Amino acid sequence: MSYLEILKYPDAQLLEHSQPVVNIDGVLQHQIDQMFETLYVSQGLGLAAPQVGCLQSFFVYDLGLQEEKPKPGAGRVVILNPEIVETEGEEIAEEGCLSIPGYFERVNRAYRVQVKGLDREGKEVRIEGEGLTARLFQHEIDHLNGVLMLSHLSRLKRDIFLRKFKKQKKQAELK
Ligand code: NI
Repeated sequence: MSYLEILKYPDAQLLEHSQPVVNIDGVLQHQIDQMFETLYVSQGLGLAAPQVGCLQSFFVYDLGLQEEKPKPGAGRVVILNPEIVETEGEEIAEEGCLSIPGYFERVNRAYRVQVKGLDREGKEVRIEGEGLTARLFQHEIDHLNGVLMLSHLSRLKRDIFLRKFKKQKKQAELK
């Protein structure tokens, strides 16, 4: 199994919209498996297809990874063509993104969401999540619409991020 490269900010592909999944075939199944493998060697809980350069509307996640002793595979789920159909409440909590490594910031999200989509066999599913799970759903579905968590920050926080990012880039170039 080979790992996929996770695109990093400011890669322009991260700002593109994904297309709905139409063919649920062997190519897609292979892509899903590779995304799980890539997730398991990274420090994340979820991974959206555009983050590995695949502009199709789906994401994978595994809540088995959030425990102190992570159990990869214990809670692996893929949702194709996901859509948020219900939201309730809100919560501000810290969030990170595999495409913006090392950066964590508090983001306001709906506390509970219901997502409608398809499983990897193409069967319709509805999954409800709250807290961290709801946050993950909103974060990954944003990726499918070319939206990064930076868009949810106040202008001040975004400016601070951009300044730090430019500085780090300059330092890396000088090395
Ligand atoms: Ni992300």
